[in-house]
Amino acid sequence: MKVGIDLIHFATADYYLGLDTFAAEKHIDVEKFTIGIGQEKMSIAPPDEDVVSLAAKAAAPILEHIEANEISAVLFATETGVDQSKSAGAFLHGLLGLSNRCRVIELKHACYAGAAALQMATSMIRANPKEKILVIAADIAKYDVDTSGEATQGCGAVAMLVTEAPRIIEIEPGSGFYTDDVMDFWRPNHRTTALVDGKYSTKVYLNSLKHAWKHFTEQTNRTFDDIDYFCYHIPFTKMAEKAHKTLVKKVGAKLTQAQIDAQTLPSQLYNRIVGNSYSASLFVGFISLLDNIDSHLHNLEGKRVSFFSYGSGCVAEFFTGVIQPGYQKVLMTDEHKTTIAHRQALSYQEYLDFYHNVDNALENVVFPVNNQGPYRLAGIKDHKRYYEKSH
Ligand code: COA
Repeated sequence: MKVGIDLIHFATADYYLGLDTFAAEKHIDVEKFTIGIGQEKMSIAPPDEDVVSLAAKAAAPILEHIEANEISAVLFATETGVDQSKSAGAFLHGLLGLSNRCRVIELKHACYAGAAALQMATSMIRANPKEKILVIAADIAKYDVDTSGEATQGCGAVAMLVTEAPRIIEIEPGSGFYTDDVMDFWRPNHRTTALVDGKYSTKVYLNSLKHAWKHFTEQTNRTFDDIDYFCYHIPFTKMAEKAHKTLVKKVGAKLTQAQIDAQTLPSQLYNRIVGNSYSASLFVGFISLLDNIDSHLHNLEGKRVSFFSYGSGCVAEFFTGVIQPGYQKVLMTDEHKTTIAHRQALSYQEYLDFYHNVDNALENVVFPVNNQGPYRLAGIKDHKRYYEKSH
């Protein structure tokens, strides 16, 4: 039985801050960002956009292709939870009008939870092939102003319909994983912004990759040469480049820069202009590969794609999938490109206004309309969040 991703769609906020604007404001050479960390823009969420509205925006086009009451579970991965108790998936369930015969749960482990949700969904479907599971990975990456993390913010949500006989990619059984209790990135409950030891985190990421890869090869007997394209968790695109070079070195492959680029670059194009979206970023990378590869020159049918998920703290997993025949027919490439292209640029002051208004909006607030998407956070009253469908 084949199980995997049948449909996939991605959403981001309607605004971005260019790293050129950011660099000018901070009096830093812009090439530190465009070359040094490999980022050009960061999507910025206004106060009336959160992971629930982003997730609803990501999932809505999928629900045009399936009856809402066919969805048997929502697995919502995020580290930007909106409530310590009620899952973001329950708000999403209401907004999308899903069936009451559908269970909902929120999953968290830093940027790893999206991969965990996908793997859990595949296991649930192998146990009961009638299930159709909506996997959401949605996050808003936010760091303190004037810290090194500020340049690596962003946001996004990926919705994946996981089923038997998937039309886009079969997720293959067998994976390699690695867990270690480390403090490289964390966000205590009282904070809206993450804390990060960036250099240490890079080291732990690369070390986790080596361990997860070793476990993967032992579990599956697959080798580096069995994989055509490599998708990595992308906090910033230079990280994925470092990761792939580390793996190439570990396996002793002799590759030219052009071969390395062919294996990884298409999966970095969106992330470069969206920024970090934590649990979603690996799957934004996968969508970037699907949408940006020249399919006339490189038909992906039958190609094996690897996924390396890394969540600080830390948990990592390496797994693979095989692209299915006819996958091009169900891609939502035009929608993704339009979403990204239609974002409005913010000045640094406008970005700061959004930034602080989110933090100050803890209770009894009605948000002005900035979010142009189909769903928005309308306000908070008596500690309850109110969402609305705007069009
Ligand atoms: N031109 C070209 N490259 C430049 C440059 C310039 N003018 N100035 C600096 N660089 C390079 C540096 O050499 C460095 O490259 P290297 O990593 O290959 O050595 C890179 O740009 C970054 O510079 P650095 O001084 O290390 O930046 P920083 O102290 O601001 O930290 C991050 C950068 C990415 C570590 C920091 O933004 C961060 O921690 N972000 C959060 C990451 C995260 O979320 N991690 C957790 C989950 S994976």
